[in-house]
Amino acid sequence: MPLRSAQWYGGQDRNAYIHRAWMRRGAPADAFTGRPQIAIANTASDLTPCNAHLDEVARSVRDGVHEAGGIPLDLPVVSLGETNVRPTAMLWRNMAAMATEEMLRANPLDGVVLLGGCDKTIPSLLMAAASVDLPAVVVPGGPMLTGTFRGTPLGCGTDVWRLSEEVRAGTLSQEQFTRSESSMIRSRGHCNTMGTASTMALVAEALGTVVPGVAGTPAPDSRLLEAAHGTGRLAVELVSDDRRPSTFLTKGSFHNAIVALAAIGGSTNAVVHLLAIAGRLGVELTLDDFDRIGSRVPVLVDLQPAGRFLMEDFHRAGGLLAVLREVADLLDPRALTVTGRPLVDHLDDAPIWDPEVIRTRARPLVEEGGIAVLRGSLAPDGALIKPAAASPHLLRHRGRAVVFDSIEDFHARVDDPDLDVDADSVLVLRGCGPKGYPGMPEVANMPLPTKLLEQGVRDMVRVCDGRMSGTAYGTVVLHVAPEAAAGGPLALVRTGDVISLDVEARRIDLEVPAAELAARTPSRATVEGFADPRRGWQRLYVDHVQQADKGADLDFLVGSSGSQVTRESH
Ligand code: FES
Repeated sequence: MPLRSAQWYGGQDRNAYIHRAWMRRGAPADAFTGRPQIAIANTASDLTPCNAHLDEVARSVRDGVHEAGGIPLDLPVVSLGETNVRPTAMLWRNMAAMATEEMLRANPLDGVVLLGGCDKTIPSLLMAAASVDLPAVVVPGGPMLTGTFRGTPLGCGTDVWRLSEEVRAGTLSQEQFTRSESSMIRSRGHCNTMGTASTMALVAEALGTVVPGVAGTPAPDSRLLEAAHGTGRLAVELVSDDRRPSTFLTKGSFHNAIVALAAIGGSTNAVVHLLAIAGRLGVELTLDDFDRIGSRVPVLVDLQPAGRFLMEDFHRAGGLLAVLREVADLLDPRALTVTGRPLVDHLDDAPIWDPEVIRTRARPLVEEGGIAVLRGSLAPDGALIKPAAASPHLLRHRGRAVVFDSIEDFHARVDDPDLDVDADSVLVLRGCGPKGYPGMPEVANMPLPTKLLEQGVRDMVRVCDGRMSGTAYGTVVLHVAPEAAAGGPLALVRTGDVISLDVEARRIDLEVPAAELAARTPSRATVEGFADPRRGWQRLYVDHVQQADKGADLDFLVGSSGSQVTRESH
């Protein structure tokens, strides 16, 4: 089959001349005849510090592509730094995916190596690759090494929450808190807890889009460069075999990703990302699949935020393949990977080297992990909770709602000494869904009122239509759908209403008679809390974003347009 890039470079006419001449720049003539043109879609950026090292990784990919007879081409793409980008990186995930998709399609490319790391970068790259459907393979940038503060390992992200709550509770001085800042990020790489970045790298591998055994390799580890080199070679093979995402990513691939997500105790953010990627591929994945497939899977990985260790320990202990080997019977044996072989074929030589970090099936960290999908009068289209990160005594709970209309309202009132709240209250935060904020920020794990922290309260039931950082923990019901701004009943809750949570029964209910609820309308303050952008991407986003249970992709980006370009301009 002729290469796709031959549509630009093939032939002797004026157009082919223009395409070749401008790209020539010292390249030999055979660079444009029969040699796969491989983009290296690179999310390196100084403003995405977790990905800043990817230029070095890209050089190793280049070497591998060249060695296998391909032509490597740097393609800088939109990069999203989780801690910097406002109002929330999630607002830009779909924009990054759309821009990458269009640039892959618009250029003379035959395949692509995707370099990501920080939370939204691997999801946006995979969404793009799925929609353009060119041969594609991911190299995850890898986690940072473990930093320490006063002799104690620091979990990037998770310990920020813990330390800041200690300051608010008066058990850590402000000066000590500030001093810990320089210890938090020890090296290049993304967050080292089982947060969203680590989760998405591992889930991308379980999905089949990373060379098995590579995800989780620490960013400074020279084996990452070796893997990048090998992946560059593989990208050329993918083109000759025409191994595109649509040829090997199936419902079984997502089944394996969900098993992995549960076994590693991964971030709830993976749910919206996997739903969005599946939507691009036309794979019918639903919210309920996460509960059905994942909720009985044991959590085997003892990593923060649910456990003790960090990603450097995880890699030393055997990494994802060691985890998957323990749950191999739960995997779909037919689901293929980018290597052309099934995922399960890569598990034969995958021992656990440290059974404290990666538990055996016989000694799980949590018997039944995964993510529970709740429904009820407060979340007709579903909501999530991560039981492994919650307090067991709160998994069944009734309490009076204390309602906040926006994150600003929350900050203004949460520490008011007169706020009528106690340990049994249920904190409700709305206006934080995909449309309402916009962009569905990670605010669902609301900090507890200081007066309760001082009483020793460390967890409460919290309910929100936003997301939660993968590095956070607590009894948090999140991704409530429909969100308040899309007409969900969350908009109608009043302070003092009783909310009941029953995770075992998978219920989240507002104990208000249906007739009374039907007669209510959202208050003016509630509606004024919803975003109403006037122009640009934010307007487009609010008009077209789908709800969390659909992956929060834009409605017109669902599906694939393939790689065909039907018009040329010269
Ligand atoms: Fe980039 Fe955590 S901030 S991975």
